[in-house]
Amino acid sequence: MIQPFERKKICLLTWGCQMNEYDSELVRSILKKEDYEFVKDERQADIVMLNTCAIREHAHRKVYGRVHSIRHERGKRNPVMIGILGCMATNLRQDLLEDRSLKIDFIAGPDSYKRLPQLIREACDEGQKSYDVTLSEFETYSDVYPSRKEGVNAWIAVMRGCNNFCTFCVVPYTRGRERSRSPENVVDEVKRLAAEGFKQVTLLGQNVNSYRYEDHDFAYLMDEVSKVEGIERIRFTSPHPKDFPDRFLELMAANPKICKHIHLPLQAGNDRVLDMMNRTYTKQEFLSLVDKIRAKIPEIVLTTDIIVGFPTETDQEFDDTLEVVQKVQFDSAFMFKYSERQGTIASKKHPDDVPEAVKTERIVRLNEIQKDITARKNQAHIGQVHEILIEPPAGDKPDAHMVGRTDGNKLVLLKEDSPLEKRKVVFFKIGDMAKVRIIDATPHVLKAIPV
Ligand code: SAH
Ligand code: SF4
Ligand code: F3S
Repeated sequence: MIQPFERKKICLLTWGCQMNEYDSELVRSILKKEDYEFVKDERQADIVMLNTCAIREHAHRKVYGRVHSIRHERGKRNPVMIGILGCMATNLRQDLLEDRSLKIDFIAGPDSYKRLPQLIREACDEGQKSYDVTLSEFETYSDVYPSRKEGVNAWIAVMRGCNNFCTFCVVPYTRGRERSRSPENVVDEVKRLAAEGFKQVTLLGQNVNSYRYEDHDFAYLMDEVSKVEGIERIRFTSPHPKDFPDRFLELMAANPKICKHIHLPLQAGNDRVLDMMNRTYTKQEFLSLVDKIRAKIPEIVLTTDIIVGFPTETDQEFDDTLEVVQKVQFDSAFMFKYSERQGTIASKKHPDDVPEAVKTERIVRLNEIQKDITARKNQAHIGQVHEILIEPPAGDKPDAHMVGRTDGNKLVLLKEDSPLEKRKVVFFKIGDMAKVRIIDATPHVLKAIPV
């Protein structure tokens, strides 16, 4: 067993959405205060914590696989404590505790991270299994300053939880009810981020545009955040199509700091399926919203999420999804096969009856159509001049190209093939806003040279 007076080393692994990445930053901050040390290599850790995602079966299987492989690698002679955090913690507490092969030592749900020091102590020093998966109506961690990675972008959760209960989705159960931080509290944090050199903030929430604090809505919050000097760009994710008042779109159009990108999850294009999903809009309402957005912000980049093979979805109904995809021409789309989640309304009411082969066929068709649209949309950028925010290169390779993102969130690779290009690029630093001309495009990335 680990000695209590030792400085314990933790390896924290994170799956899932940006909110989980952000929560891991909160967890690091909370535990660093208690003198824990964080290491990258799980082989050097005394405690491995897995911040998990429960959104689809696949996410959940990966975590089980990882726990088994950690247990197997470390063996009996070099044991390690394992803690499960995040959405699987709330969702599968019982299974996790009872599964003897996993030997989980402690479990903490998304609203219990302040109790982690105590949970770890109980598990470590007293050798008991410990857990807290209580969901709170108030916890926003507004008093915890996340331990962020260096870079140009800082995530900042402005609201947590979800009240929408889309019937396929586990999030309302794993993360509880919506609650928002006060605008002053958010703005204070953004000021501190600007002083630390961050150039971009991304406001996060499971339904970020449902943000509400007393009389203040999301438009008010965005406007206040945009007044912070030093922050050049503001992004937000993930919004729900139901909360796009004109006032917000007008603010977005008029405010140069608010990036012209909206991730607008469609999920499905057929009214019967949308109703069964409890998405609260019809195909026509979604299309009208897109028209309204484009009328107010012509340069908007739109991306989306789509689920194929929701229970009882027919081929004809799936065609409606394809039709919306063709009509809207999203810049890109994340596509998922429906995955039944324990406890959700869909899992209780509708058997997962679309065969796997049909789901595969639908996702392949959708993917082909979207790939062409994405390629065309990206190619349309060739010849244009864009301002990109230079980011740290992805990956650790020393010869990695310099990269940045357009206002619309498209990844741009700076070409340094000729000596002249190289000399120009050398002047750019991470965090700079650089003017570049797009000279080439693939479905995944734009290539550019400095102007
Ligand atoms: N709050 C976000 C969703 C987060 S989950 C929103 O409303 O946009 C991200 C995406 O995962 C969802 O948009 C949906 O497309 C997908 N998803 C959620 N539950 C799923 C399930 N049971 N099966 C397949 N995909 C799912
Ligand atoms: Fe899930 Fe729907 Fe809430 Fe998004 S809005 S988190 S899909 S329940
Ligand atoms: Fe996954 Fe939870 Fe995010 S289920 S997608 S980590 S909110």
